[in-house]
Amino acid sequence: MAENLRIAVLASGEGTNLGAIIKAQDEGILGNARVSLVISDNPEAKALVRARESGITTAVIEKNSSITPEEFDGLLIDELGKASVDLVVLAGFMRVLGKKMVNAFSGRIINIHPALLPCFKGVSGVSDAFDYGVKVTGVTVHFVDEGVDTGPIILQGHVDVEQADTKLSLEQKIHALEHQLYPRAIRLFVDGKLKIEGRKVLILE
Ligand code: GAR
Repeated sequence: MAENLRIAVLASGEGTNLGAIIKAQDEGILGNARVSLVISDNPEAKALVRARESGITTAVIEKNSSITPEEFDGLLIDELGKASVDLVVLAGFMRVLGKKMVNAFSGRIINIHPALLPCFKGVSGVSDAFDYGVKVTGVTVHFVDEGVDTGPIILQGHVDVEQADTKLSLEQKIHALEHQLYPRAIRLFVDGKLKIEGRKVLILE
């Protein structure tokens, strides 16, 4: 599994997690796995620029009213299939994947969420946690199932919310943690060390 495993990263925005994953790859932290494709639903995504700067193939599948979610999934599966992708890594991909896509890559799609799931699901995890007034929040890497942020949890890390924190400073702390945690989770997958048992993900020795 670890030999030349091909990763596709799906990203809609800034792509700082993509940047961290590429850096980890360059430093050998991902073993022999390679990011071979970056796909975005947003042609303006900075993630696409980052990918191109690193010589990674990119594709855009625009979300617009002329294609249904099922058609979007079909196009996505085609792109991933053409590139013989083994692992799909969602990094700020602001779109819910449908049943067809989740089934096509069952157990091979992972996501990063900027809160301690199952709290603060959805698209504004940092802001929601901050507004709620939690003292501790964090980051979750999980397998993707058909729900929104509901799949089995691979790794979590926490950050303290200090009195002096603002949404911006909290977001910066969360990002810094994400950039450590996501490459670690990917490496565990690459090494075949993750085993899903019901809701639990076992990390094999
Ligand atoms: C990250 O904080 C990620 O956890 C979050 O989007 C951000 C993308 O940042 N994802 C979600 O909220 C998914 N529900 P990036 O584009 O700089 O990697």
